Amino acid sequence: MLTDRSILVTGASSGIGREMVRTYVGLGARVLGTARREAALVETIEGLDPERAMIVPADLGSRTGREILVTEALRIAPIDVVVHAAGVLGPRAPLAEYPEQAWHETFHINMTAIHLLHQELVNCLAPAATIIGVSSSVGRTGRGGWGMYAVSKAALEGWLEVLADEWPGPVFSVNPGGTATPMRAEALPEEDPSTIPSPADIMPIFVRLAAADPGYPTGEKLNARDFIDR
Ligand SMILES: NC(=O)c1ccc[n+]([C@@H]2O[C@H](COP(=O)([O-])OP(=O)(O)OC[C@H]3O[C@@H](n4cnc5c(N)ncnc54)[C@H](OP(=O)(O)O)[C@@H]3O)[C@@H](O)[C@H]2O)c1
Repeated sequence: MLTDRSILVTGASSGIGREMVRTYVGLGARVLGTARREAALVETIEGLDPERAMIVPADLGSRTGREILVTEALRIAPIDVVVHAAGVLGPRAPLAEYPEQAWHETFHINMTAIHLLHQELVNCLAPAATIIGVSSSVGRTGRGGWGMYAVSKAALEGWLEVLADEWPGPVFSVNPGGTATPMRAEALPEEDPSTIPSPADIMPIFVRLAAADPGYPTGEKLNARDFIDR
């Protein structure tokens, strides 16, 4: 279904991004996965065809890290699909008490790094590449206690809207919905992860949007939960 599609996945060392790399490679795509932790990236591609499953450790928050990624991305250029799945939770704190440094760091990774990476990747992208932003319910409607995480995902929604109006290829926002990953466990430690969807459960919409004909108009905002078991 995704034979020979060339896909870049950020956040590939864990949770949703890790599952995405495995799923895309399993469907015949050539995938470059990135995140900071090399050992965890190696685990992501364990058992996968090394011709189609590639990794590059890089800190997307730093210019040097993004340069390393872009150099490696040339190996799979022209890239058909970019999925911006990397993200950080930041502190769960009310706005009145939100620590300043974490405010900047969380915005930097969840928004600014995505914007800068898009600019820096342009020469590696197919002319009408698909861009997928991984958003959140709290980015669609803010909720108390989610602080800069919610604010940065709302900013991401705005950035994707602007990009959809400018970019020649399809641009999508996908809200995974609560999914059993390390980030979710950090956000809601009291929750039993077996009661919510796994990363594998929410893959159908990410597969569909990565296809040559994604089936939705650019700018569409989708909820992964609507596509479970379809
Ligand atoms: N799980 C949910 O319930 C849920 C719900 C709504 C939205 N989301 C969104 O879905 C996406 C994936 O989340 P997840 O739940 O899979 O989280 P996760 O398991 O914590 O994975 C986050 C990924 O982001 C990477 N990352 C963080 N900072 C980075 C940096 N500076 N440079 C490069 N990579 C970085 C991490 O890798 P390293 O630590 O190795 O760098 C990791 O691979 C996120 O954007 C999240 O906001 C998740």
